[in-house]
Amino acid sequence: MNKLKIGIIGCGVIGSKLAKVIDKELKDRARIAGLCDIDKEKLERLRRRLKSKPASLELLDLIKKSNLAIEAASAKVSAHILKNAINAKKDVMLMSVGGLLGHERLFELAQKRGIKVYLPSGAIGGVDAIKAASQAKIRSARLITRKPPRGLEGAPYIIKKKINLKKIKGEKILFDGPAAEAVKAFPKNINVSALLSLTGIGANKTRVTIITSPSYKRNSHQVEVCGDFGKLITKTENVPAPDNLKTSYLAVLSAIATLKQILSPVKMGT
Ligand SMILES: NC(=O)c1ccc[n+]([C@@H]2O[C@H](COP(=O)([O-])OP(=O)(O)OC[C@H]3O[C@@H](n4cnc5c(N)ncnc54)[C@H](O)[C@@H]3O)[C@@H](O)[C@H]2O)c1
Repeated sequence: MNKLKIGIIGCGVIGSKLAKVIDKELKDRARIAGLCDIDKEKLERLRRRLKSKPASLELLDLIKKSNLAIEAASAKVSAHILKNAINAKKDVMLMSVGGLLGHERLFELAQKRGIKVYLPSGAIGGVDAIKAASQAKIRSARLITRKPPRGLEGAPYIIKKKINLKKIKGEKILFDGPAAEAVKAFPKNINVSALLSLTGIGANKTRVTIITSPSYKRNSHQVEVCGDFGKLITKTENVPAPDNLKTSYLAVLSAIATLKQILSPVKMGT
Protein backbone atom coordinates (compact mmCIF):
# COMPACT_ATOMS: atom_id res chain seq x y z
CA MET A 1 0.00 0.00 0.00
CA ASN A 2 1.30 3.46 -0.91
CA LYS A 3 1.75 5.61 2.17
CA LEU A 4 -0.04 8.95 2.27
CA LYS A 5 2.58 11.72 2.16
CA ILE A 6 1.58 14.41 4.65
CA GLY A 7 3.08 17.90 4.82
CA ILE A 8 2.62 19.79 8.08
CA ILE A 9 2.45 23.59 8.13
CA GLY A 10 2.80 24.92 11.69
CA CYS A 11 4.86 23.04 14.28
CA GLY A 12 2.97 24.31 17.34
CA VAL A 13 0.63 22.36 19.61
CA ILE A 14 -1.62 20.83 16.93
CA GLY A 15 1.03 20.32 14.22
CA SER A 16 3.47 18.70 16.68
CA LYS A 17 0.88 16.32 18.06
CA LEU A 18 -0.21 15.29 14.54
CA ALA A 19 3.42 14.77 13.51
CA LYS A 20 4.02 12.49 16.50
CA VAL A 21 0.88 10.47 15.78
CA ILE A 22 1.91 10.00 12.11
CA ASP A 23 5.48 9.12 13.13
CA LYS A 24 4.39 6.41 15.59
CA GLU A 25 0.81 5.20 15.35
CA LEU A 26 0.16 5.77 11.64
CA LYS A 27 3.58 4.94 10.22
CA ASP A 28 2.23 1.90 8.30
CA ARG A 29 -0.21 4.07 6.36
CA ALA A 30 1.37 7.54 6.23
CA ARG A 31 4.65 9.39 6.37
CA ILE A 32 5.59 13.02 6.94
CA ALA A 33 6.63 14.56 3.61
CA GLY A 34 8.02 17.65 5.33
CA LEU A 35 7.57 20.32 7.99
CA CYS A 36 7.13 24.07 7.52
CA ASP A 37 7.16 26.84 10.13
CA ILE A 38 8.19 30.49 10.16
CA ASP A 39 9.79 29.76 13.54
CA LYS A 40 12.77 27.58 12.57
CA GLU A 41 13.67 26.82 16.19
CA LYS A 42 10.22 25.34 16.82
CA LEU A 43 10.47 23.31 13.65
CA GLU A 44 13.91 21.98 14.64
CA ARG A 45 12.67 21.12 18.15
CA LEU A 46 9.89 19.01 16.65
CA ARG A 47 12.15 17.44 14.01
CA ARG A 48 14.57 16.26 16.70
CA ARG A 49 11.72 14.48 18.52
CA LEU A 50 10.55 12.58 15.42
CA LYS A 51 12.04 9.23 14.43
CA SER A 52 11.56 9.88 10.70
CA LYS A 53 13.51 13.22 10.75
CA PRO A 54 11.37 14.88 8.02
CA ALA A 55 12.82 17.69 5.90
CA SER A 56 12.24 21.36 6.59
CA LEU A 57 10.54 22.74 3.47
CA GLU A 58 9.22 26.07 2.25
CA LEU A 59 5.43 26.24 1.87
CA LEU A 60 5.06 25.72 -1.89
CA ASP A 61 7.67 22.96 -1.99
CA LEU A 62 5.98 21.22 0.93
CA ILE A 63 2.59 21.31 -0.80
CA LYS A 64 4.18 19.96 -4.00
CA LYS A 65 5.78 17.03 -2.16
CA SER A 66 2.61 16.05 -0.22
CA ASN A 67 -0.60 14.19 -1.06
CA LEU A 68 -2.23 15.95 1.89
CA ALA A 69 -1.13 19.31 3.32
CA ILE A 70 -2.18 20.05 6.91
CA GLU A 71 -2.40 23.69 8.04
CA ALA A 72 -2.04 24.20 11.81
CA ALA A 73 -0.46 27.65 11.62
CA SER A 74 -2.60 30.80 11.51
CA ALA A 75 -5.88 32.22 10.19
CA LYS A 76 -3.73 34.77 8.33
CA VAL A 77 -2.47 32.08 5.95
CA SER A 78 -5.18 29.38 5.78
CA ALA A 79 -6.91 30.82 2.65
CA HIS A 80 -3.51 31.29 0.96
CA ILE A 81 -2.62 27.66 1.75
CA LEU A 82 -5.96 26.44 0.40
CA LYS A 83 -5.45 28.44 -2.80
CA ASN A 84 -2.00 26.94 -3.33
CA ALA A 85 -3.17 23.40 -2.54
CA ILE A 86 -5.91 23.80 -5.17
CA ASN A 87 -3.38 25.09 -7.72
CA ALA A 88 -1.12 22.11 -7.01
CA LYS A 89 -4.14 19.72 -7.00
CA LYS A 90 -3.42 18.49 -3.46
CA ASP A 91 -5.85 17.61 -0.68
CA VAL A 92 -5.72 19.85 2.36
CA MET A 93 -6.82 19.86 6.01
CA LEU A 94 -7.20 23.30 7.58
CA MET A 95 -7.38 24.05 11.30
CA SER A 96 -7.57 27.86 11.05
CA VAL A 97 -11.11 27.81 9.66
CA GLY A 98 -11.66 31.46 10.64
CA GLY A 99 -9.31 32.58 7.88
CA LEU A 100 -11.62 31.02 5.28
CA LEU A 101 -14.64 33.28 5.94
CA GLY A 102 -15.07 35.49 2.88
CA HIS A 103 -13.12 33.00 0.73
CA GLU A 104 -15.94 30.47 0.30
CA ARG A 105 -15.59 30.56 -3.51
CA LEU A 106 -12.39 28.55 -3.01
CA PHE A 107 -14.57 25.58 -1.99
CA GLU A 108 -16.25 25.67 -5.42
CA LEU A 109 -12.83 25.87 -7.06
CA ALA A 110 -11.68 22.87 -4.99
CA GLN A 111 -14.72 20.91 -6.16
CA LYS A 112 -14.04 21.81 -9.82
CA ARG A 113 -10.44 20.60 -9.49
CA GLY A 114 -11.34 17.48 -7.48
CA ILE A 115 -9.52 18.57 -4.30
CA LYS A 116 -10.69 17.43 -0.87
CA VAL A 117 -10.79 20.08 1.85
CA TYR A 118 -11.06 18.78 5.43
CA LEU A 119 -12.22 21.14 8.21
CA PRO A 120 -12.15 19.39 11.62
CA SER A 121 -14.88 20.13 14.18
CA GLY A 122 -12.27 21.58 16.53
CA ALA A 123 -13.53 22.67 19.92
CA ILE A 124 -17.29 22.28 19.27
CA GLY A 125 -19.65 19.31 19.22
CA GLY A 126 -22.59 18.67 16.91
CA VAL A 127 -21.05 19.37 13.48
CA ASP A 128 -22.08 15.89 12.26
CA ALA A 129 -25.73 16.55 13.20
CA ILE A 130 -25.71 20.09 11.73
CA LYS A 131 -24.41 18.69 8.43
CA ALA A 132 -27.34 16.26 8.38
CA ALA A 133 -29.79 18.98 9.49
CA SER A 134 -28.65 21.28 6.67
CA GLN A 135 -30.03 18.81 4.11
CA ALA A 136 -33.42 20.32 5.09
CA LYS A 137 -34.16 23.85 6.36
CA ILE A 138 -32.21 25.28 9.30
CA ARG A 139 -34.07 28.21 10.84
CA SER A 140 -31.55 29.41 13.44
CA ALA A 141 -28.00 28.71 14.61
CA ARG A 142 -26.47 30.12 17.75
CA LEU A 143 -23.16 29.80 19.58
CA ILE A 144 -22.92 30.75 23.24
CA THR A 145 -19.28 30.95 24.30
CA ARG A 146 -18.35 31.25 27.97
CA LYS A 147 -14.77 32.17 28.78
CA PRO A 148 -12.93 33.29 31.91
CA PRO A 149 -11.99 37.01 31.69
CA ARG A 150 -8.29 36.25 31.10
CA GLY A 151 -9.26 34.27 27.97
CA LEU A 152 -10.69 37.46 26.45
CA GLU A 153 -7.85 39.83 27.24
CA GLY A 154 -6.55 41.78 24.26
CA ALA A 155 -9.63 41.14 22.06
CA PRO A 156 -10.22 44.14 19.73
CA TYR A 157 -13.79 44.54 21.10
CA ILE A 158 -12.56 44.67 24.72
CA ILE A 159 -9.95 47.29 23.82
CA LYS A 160 -12.34 49.38 21.68
CA LYS A 161 -15.10 49.40 24.34
CA LYS A 162 -12.52 50.00 27.13
CA ILE A 163 -13.93 47.07 29.15
CA ASN A 164 -12.00 46.44 32.35
CA LEU A 165 -12.20 42.64 32.63
CA LYS A 166 -10.72 42.68 36.15
CA LYS A 167 -13.71 44.68 37.43
CA ILE A 168 -16.33 42.17 36.26
CA LYS A 169 -18.03 40.58 39.28
CA GLY A 170 -20.73 38.10 38.20
CA GLU A 171 -21.81 36.76 34.81
CA LYS A 172 -21.72 39.42 32.06
CA ILE A 173 -22.82 39.25 28.43
CA LEU A 174 -20.05 41.03 26.53
CA PHE A 175 -21.23 40.50 22.98
CA ASP A 176 -24.39 39.41 21.19
CA GLY A 177 -24.48 39.66 17.40
CA PRO A 178 -23.85 37.91 14.07
CA ALA A 179 -20.84 35.61 13.66
CA ALA A 180 -19.58 37.90 10.88
CA GLU A 181 -19.08 40.65 13.52
CA ALA A 182 -18.01 38.29 16.34
CA VAL A 183 -15.02 37.00 14.40
CA LYS A 184 -13.72 40.57 14.02
CA ALA A 185 -14.50 41.55 17.62
CA PHE A 186 -13.07 38.35 19.15
CA PRO A 187 -10.62 36.82 16.64
CA LYS A 188 -9.62 34.11 19.13
CA ASN A 189 -13.19 32.80 18.98
CA ILE A 190 -12.99 32.85 15.23
CA ASN A 191 -12.56 29.14 14.42
CA VAL A 192 -15.61 27.79 16.22
CA SER A 193 -17.98 30.50 14.97
CA ALA A 194 -16.58 30.16 11.43
CA LEU A 195 -17.06 26.39 11.30
CA LEU A 196 -20.57 26.65 12.71
CA SER A 197 -21.40 29.34 10.09
CA LEU A 198 -19.95 27.34 7.20
CA THR A 199 -21.74 24.13 8.24
CA GLY A 200 -25.07 25.84 8.93
CA ILE A 201 -26.60 29.08 7.66
CA GLY A 202 -23.64 31.41 7.09
CA ALA A 203 -21.86 34.08 9.15
CA ASN A 204 -24.57 36.76 8.82
CA LYS A 205 -27.40 34.57 10.14
CA THR A 206 -25.45 32.68 12.83
CA ARG A 207 -25.78 34.44 16.19
CA VAL A 208 -22.89 34.54 18.65
CA THR A 209 -23.13 35.42 22.35
CA ILE A 210 -19.99 35.80 24.43
CA ILE A 211 -20.31 35.67 28.22
CA THR A 212 -17.68 35.96 30.92
CA SER A 213 -17.49 35.55 34.68
CA PRO A 214 -14.60 35.34 37.15
CA SER A 215 -16.12 32.04 38.30
CA TYR A 216 -15.59 30.36 34.88
CA LYS A 217 -12.66 27.96 34.84
CA ARG A 218 -13.03 26.51 31.33
CA ASN A 219 -13.86 27.68 27.81
CA SER A 220 -17.30 26.36 26.98
CA HIS A 221 -19.09 26.41 23.64
CA GLN A 222 -22.84 25.82 23.51
CA VAL A 223 -24.28 25.24 20.05
CA GLU A 224 -28.04 25.60 19.48
CA VAL A 225 -29.57 24.86 16.10
CA CYS A 226 -33.28 24.73 15.15
CA GLY A 227 -34.71 23.50 11.87
CA ASP A 228 -36.98 21.04 10.11
CA PHE A 229 -35.21 18.22 11.98
CA GLY A 230 -36.12 19.63 15.41
CA LYS A 231 -33.64 21.17 17.85
CA LEU A 232 -30.01 20.43 18.68
CA ILE A 233 -28.14 21.62 21.76
CA THR A 234 -24.53 20.61 22.45
CA LYS A 235 -22.12 21.96 25.03
CA THR A 236 -18.39 21.32 25.27
CA GLU A 237 -16.53 22.36 28.42
CA ASN A 238 -12.99 22.47 27.18
CA VAL A 239 -9.76 22.07 29.08
CA PRO A 240 -6.81 23.83 27.43
CA ALA A 241 -4.19 21.85 25.49
CA PRO A 242 -1.21 20.96 27.70
CA ASP A 243 1.19 23.38 25.88
CA ASN A 244 -1.09 26.19 24.73
CA LEU A 245 -3.80 27.78 26.89
CA LYS A 246 -5.46 29.35 23.83
CA THR A 247 -6.10 26.00 22.15
CA SER A 248 -8.68 23.58 23.52
CA TYR A 249 -7.45 20.03 23.98
CA LEU A 250 -10.55 18.82 22.11
CA ALA A 251 -9.34 20.71 18.99
CA VAL A 252 -6.06 18.75 19.07
CA LEU A 253 -7.99 15.48 19.43
CA SER A 254 -10.37 16.52 16.65
CA ALA A 255 -7.41 17.03 14.27
CA ILE A 256 -6.08 13.54 15.09
CA ALA A 257 -9.55 11.99 14.62
CA THR A 258 -10.00 13.72 11.23
CA LEU A 259 -6.63 12.45 10.02
CA LYS A 260 -7.45 8.90 11.16
CA GLN A 261 -10.81 9.15 9.38
CA ILE A 262 -9.02 10.17 6.15
CA LEU A 263 -6.83 7.06 6.43
CA SER A 264 -9.65 4.72 7.40
CA PRO A 265 -11.92 2.82 5.00
CA VAL A 266 -14.78 3.32 7.49
CA LYS A 267 -16.23 6.85 7.69
CA MET A 268 -18.26 7.29 10.86
CA GLY A 269 -20.67 10.13 11.53
CA THR A 270 -22.84 11.84 8.92
N1 LIG B 1 -10.70 24.73 14.41
C1 LIG B 1 -10.58 24.93 15.73
O1 LIG B 1 -11.52 24.74 16.51
C2 LIG B 1 -9.26 25.36 16.26
C3 LIG B 1 -8.99 25.17 17.63
C4 LIG B 1 -7.74 25.53 18.10
C5 LIG B 1 -6.83 26.13 17.27
N2 LIG B 1 -7.15 26.36 15.98
C6 LIG B 1 -6.21 27.05 15.08
O2 LIG B 1 -5.22 26.16 14.63
C7 LIG B 1 -3.99 26.86 14.44
C8 LIG B 1 -2.88 26.11 15.16
O3 LIG B 1 -3.15 26.06 16.55
P1 LIG B 1 -2.00 25.69 17.61
O4 LIG B 1 -2.62 25.62 18.94
O5 LIG B 1 -1.21 24.54 17.10
O6 LIG B 1 -1.12 27.03 17.53
P2 LIG B 1 0.39 27.28 17.99
O7 LIG B 1 0.51 28.73 18.24
O8 LIG B 1 0.78 26.33 19.06
O9 LIG B 1 1.24 26.90 16.68
C9 LIG B 1 1.17 27.58 15.48
C10 LIG B 1 2.49 27.39 14.74
O10 LIG B 1 2.34 27.90 13.41
C11 LIG B 1 3.49 28.68 13.10
N3 LIG B 1 3.12 29.66 12.07
C12 LIG B 1 2.44 30.82 12.23
N4 LIG B 1 2.28 31.42 11.04
C13 LIG B 1 2.88 30.62 10.11
C14 LIG B 1 3.06 30.69 8.71
N5 LIG B 1 2.62 31.75 8.01
N6 LIG B 1 3.71 29.69 8.08
C15 LIG B 1 4.20 28.63 8.78
N7 LIG B 1 4.07 28.51 10.12
C16 LIG B 1 3.41 29.49 10.77
C17 LIG B 1 3.92 29.31 14.42
O11 LIG B 1 5.30 29.69 14.39
C18 LIG B 1 3.66 28.15 15.39
O12 LIG B 1 4.77 27.29 15.52
C19 LIG B 1 -4.22 28.29 14.95
O13 LIG B 1 -4.47 29.18 13.89
C20 LIG B 1 -5.46 28.16 15.81
O14 LIG B 1 -6.23 29.36 15.85
C21 LIG B 1 -8.32 25.96 15.47
